[in-house]
Amino acid sequence: MTPRILITHPLVAGGLARLEGRYTLIQAEGLEQPAELRAAIRGCVGVIPVCSARLDASVIESGDTLRVIANCAVGFDNIDLAAAARRGIVVTNTPGVLTEATADLTFAAILGLVRRVVAGDRLVRSGGFRGFGPTLLLGCDLAGKTLGIVGLGQIGRAVARRALGFGMTVVFVDPRPDAADPPARRAPSLEALLAEADIVTLHTPLLPETRHLLDARALALMKPTAYLVNTSRGPIVDERALVAALQAGRLAGAALDVYEREPELAPGLRELEQVLLLPHLGSATVETRRRMAELAAANLDAVLSGQPPPNPVPLA
Ligand code: GLV
Repeated sequence: MTPRILITHPLVAGGLARLEGRYTLIQAEGLEQPAELRAAIRGCVGVIPVCSARLDASVIESGDTLRVIANCAVGFDNIDLAAAARRGIVVTNTPGVLTEATADLTFAAILGLVRRVVAGDRLVRSGGFRGFGPTLLLGCDLAGKTLGIVGLGQIGRAVARRALGFGMTVVFVDPRPDAADPPARRAPSLEALLAEADIVTLHTPLLPETRHLLDARALALMKPTAYLVNTSRGPIVDERALVAALQAGRLAGAALDVYEREPELAPGLRELEQVLLLPHLGSATVETRRRMAELAAANLDAVLSGQPPPNPVPLA
């Protein structure tokens, strides 16, 4: 029998074509919890998880023959890297191929939020649209506003390019000294960015130091007219603190594609009119999801063929 590879979720058709016939592909229908993953991973040399499959230490230790975890995602906070390092298991991800799709979705969220697109759709569907109204569902202009980007990596830069096209001013914070994009201005600190921006958008990975980066204290620094957008990882925002700030009118609104305890929502979030809630769609286009699957397959194949993978995640 050819080596066994576990695929935790059905992926876009054709994305794993290069593996077919050379490996035994064990296609699961959506394995996310450690208990179910522990059983499924036994006897597999590779696994292709998506970002919602939790490969904690117990799962990794159950992978008795596991050599590679080829995450089909750019983020890898779903994997216990220390446990993988202890077992000598290579971890890879899929950077680059989802940059434009995620930046597009970020802008869809920004526009949907500030132009009240969902409220408009609901009004028309409910039969409440009685004709043009000069003060109906007023939003706010993007041109002339300041976008604050937290994390100017590939996705942050793609968002910056779009913002400049919309006539916005772009400020950013990023811990890397060389993270620069000439038309964007580096803010002296996160606090300064939060105080200045009309819209704050998050594009940082989830790391111990970015967990609850936007907590009650940080949210309080934002202008009451400002909006928060999160298409990165839910736990970067203290969701309960966000709900409290929105309920108290200390923020104008928020657009979220990711949640702290995904897919659960913090109490009160669902009831707020001034939030746009999306179901983790950042990279969800046919082309992008196919490229992600192809890249995950290429990474896995490289490791199992004794080659260096294109996108290793540093384990140190
Ligand atoms: C999706 O959220 C990803 O990290 O690719």
